[in-house]
Amino acid sequence: VDHLLGIKYLNKNDIDLIFETANHFKEVINRPIKKVPSLRDITIANLFFENSTRTKLSFEIAEKRLSADILNFSAGQSSVKKGETLIDTVNNILSMKVDIVVMRHANVGAGVFLSKHVDAKIINAGDGTHEHPTQALLDSYSIKEKLGTVKGKKVLIVGDVLHSRVALSNIFALQLQGAQVKVCGPTTLIPKYITSLGVEVETNLKKALDWCDVANVLRVQHERMDIKYFPSTREYTQLFGINQQILDSLDKKIVIMHPGPINRGVEITSDVADSKQSIILNQVENGVAIRMAVIYLLAQQIKR
Ligand code: CP
Repeated sequence: VDHLLGIKYLNKNDIDLIFETANHFKEVINRPIKKVPSLRDITIANLFFENSTRTKLSFEIAEKRLSADILNFSAGQSSVKKGETLIDTVNNILSMKVDIVVMRHANVGAGVFLSKHVDAKIINAGDGTHEHPTQALLDSYSIKEKLGTVKGKKVLIVGDVLHSRVALSNIFALQLQGAQVKVCGPTTLIPKYITSLGVEVETNLKKALDWCDVANVLRVQHERMDIKYFPSTREYTQLFGINQQILDSLDKKIVIMHPGPINRGVEITSDVADSKQSIILNQVENGVAIRMAVIYLLAQQIKR
């Protein structure tokens, strides 16, 4: 593939190659000297039109570990505020001889649009409610690391699926690797098309948790929420919040994941998020190796 625009453009072999490459980089970044010279002649622009902590910093450290030159751009402090268009913004940045653009944008399809209009490799760091491919890759990689394989595992995605780019990318990635996927949440926060993807819907949280090996808990996206979709926060937490009591009622220990940022006490309690069952910070750690792998593999296609 020429870009990383979404998991829907990848196949199982692509994911295997990314994971093998990430295994190598995970070993590298645990050495005393964490840096390799692989991308010394590559320049990468990180364009964030929406807020981010993990993804932005994870790409930045991944690029630094690969010795790339980097430009960081946050829309809020830029001439976008004066009305400059996306294509003008990116073409001006590319005039500075940039090879790879990492972009987060509020609009669905922003990465695909950019890939058709500019001459650079594009990595989608989240486009609206659509896809967040590197998050799904690091999530599957973390499941594989914890459980040995993704194939055959039962993965539950819990919560605000409607507004989640993490959910869609995870569904595509997990299915490519042979996992079973269910979603659980209020019916108003489950998109109608979800069953057409071969994903079952379970609205009873206890039943859903009884079924799964892994629960990936989504953030309630208050900033994208329309009041008509949302039960009150208190109702949401009562019906769909993951707490220790409900986990203790299961006859097994499931793996708990969350892409972050967490609304502590809303979709997950602090004791669960910080428990031994949680691999939330392992996900973040693995994100660096996954992003190094994605950048490294795309950079191999650039003529130097
Ligand atoms: N998981 C994730 O995308 O977090 P950020 O929004 O902080 O990048």
